[in-house]
Amino acid sequence: MTNRFAVILAAGQGTRMKSKLYKVLHSICGKPMVEHVLDNILKVNTDKIVTVVGHGAELVKTSLGGKSDFVLQEEQLGTAHAVIQAKEVLGNQNGTTLVICGDTPLITAETMEALIKLHESQDAAATILSAYTEKPDGYGRVIRNTNRTVEKVVEHKDASEDERKVKEINTGTYCFDNQALFEALEEVSNDNAQGEYYLPDVIEILKAKGKKVFAFQTPDFDETMGINDRVALAEAERLMRNRINNIHMKNGVTIIDPTNTYVDSDVKIGMDTILYPGTIIKGQTVIGEDCQIGPNSELVNAKIGSETVIRQSVVHDSLVGEKVQIGPFAHIRPQSNIHDDVKVGNFVEIKKSEIGKGSKASHLSYIGDAEVGSNVNLGCGSITVNYNGKSKFLTKIEDNVFVGCNSNLVAPVTIGEGAYIAAGSTITKDVPGESLSIARARQVNKENYVKKLNLNN
Ligand code: UD1
Ligand code: CA
Repeated sequence: MTNRFAVILAAGQGTRMKSKLYKVLHSICGKPMVEHVLDNILKVNTDKIVTVVGHGAELVKTSLGGKSDFVLQEEQLGTAHAVIQAKEVLGNQNGTTLVICGDTPLITAETMEALIKLHESQDAAATILSAYTEKPDGYGRVIRNTNRTVEKVVEHKDASEDERKVKEINTGTYCFDNQALFEALEEVSNDNAQGEYYLPDVIEILKAKGKKVFAFQTPDFDETMGINDRVALAEAERLMRNRINNIHMKNGVTIIDPTNTYVDSDVKIGMDTILYPGTIIKGQTVIGEDCQIGPNSELVNAKIGSETVIRQSVVHDSLVGEKVQIGPFAHIRPQSNIHDDVKVGNFVEIKKSEIGKGSKASHLSYIGDAEVGSNVNLGCGSITVNYNGKSKFLTKIEDNVFVGCNSNLVAPVTIGEGAYIAAGSTITKDVPGESLSIARARQVNKENYVKKLNLNN
């Protein structure tokens, strides 16, 4: 097989975004747009990927991690100038080079593969990925001669009135014969409306050398959309959201209202799970089968076992087992591990705690920095007092403990297996297993005292 390489152009500032964040780092469905591009390229099996960075170089590099090589374009003199920066890495290679912009996150791996296949089967020097649109403004136009073969690409700003009427646009993605690309790049000039070195000029240069040049027109213009401002960003988010939700629905997930359900691109969801409206599922969340999530719930990097129900609640960076019930209105904060069959009811907050199998905190509790065993009942208003203003301390509650309503467990403290805490207690010392602990003032009834106070006259 021919060697395959890819170059991602990601050095621009993205002035039209009006943002402190560099354009290609703006997220679409939870992932920077340039990472969408890269992750799709990874699916088409390339031997090397080179990303051209400039503005925000360090941040872009961090975001793409070990998945790409990088070259620096110090000054942004145009897309051709950007590709030339990859010469030191790719210049001597033989093969096919895919060039793609970091701001076209919707182009799928299937489209990339189809483009590469056509290019290689035709033994072409260059193949442009083009698309047809009724609104070609701003895009470079693909100019064909009377035989319908591709002649050149002209940028909107340089196009004549007739050329502007052309509705076949350059998507900014191309395949090149690698050697032919780097040779032609040497000849690109910046004699144009923007004073930039345009990559699409390579087409006309190759054509003049008698080389074969094609355009592969994708039927789906939406896929090729370039994100230059926030309006396009929102539109791309909508298209990507649709695409992601459709994949889950086709895999057997019920989504009651797909226009109002927001699932990040790396999320995994099991069959027969139901997502109710207003649900936001982010990051690396994995959800089992037969779950019910929502309405109005937010899961971030959560791992949720099968048959679990999460209603109107928030779960962040935590593990939740099978057949767990959470909510309504519960907040599971990072580093919590909630085992199977647990019930976490309304107005319960759990932070950095382990909750053992079958335990319950049904109402109005704060459980932080705690290790809770199995079959523990945490009564309404149970609080772990984990913080003294300076440090955090651990509360250990062993299996089968019953904590009565409105109890404070002042950490560090251990409640032994099977112990029973009377309601309203403030526990400051360890409680041995199987004991009853009462830590509250004794009730005193002063008979007829009200009369004596004479308050009722
Ligand atoms: C480009 C194409 C245009 C095409 C459109 C598709 C050129 C000259 N024009 O226009 O034909 O229709 O994409 O979306 O190529 N970049 C660099 N270094 C630079 C300049 C740009 O890395 O010096 C990067 C940008 O970060 C961006 C990409 O190249 O990711 C495209 O640049 P942009 O300025 O958005 O080009 P368009 O004007 O959209
Ligand atoms: Ca663009």
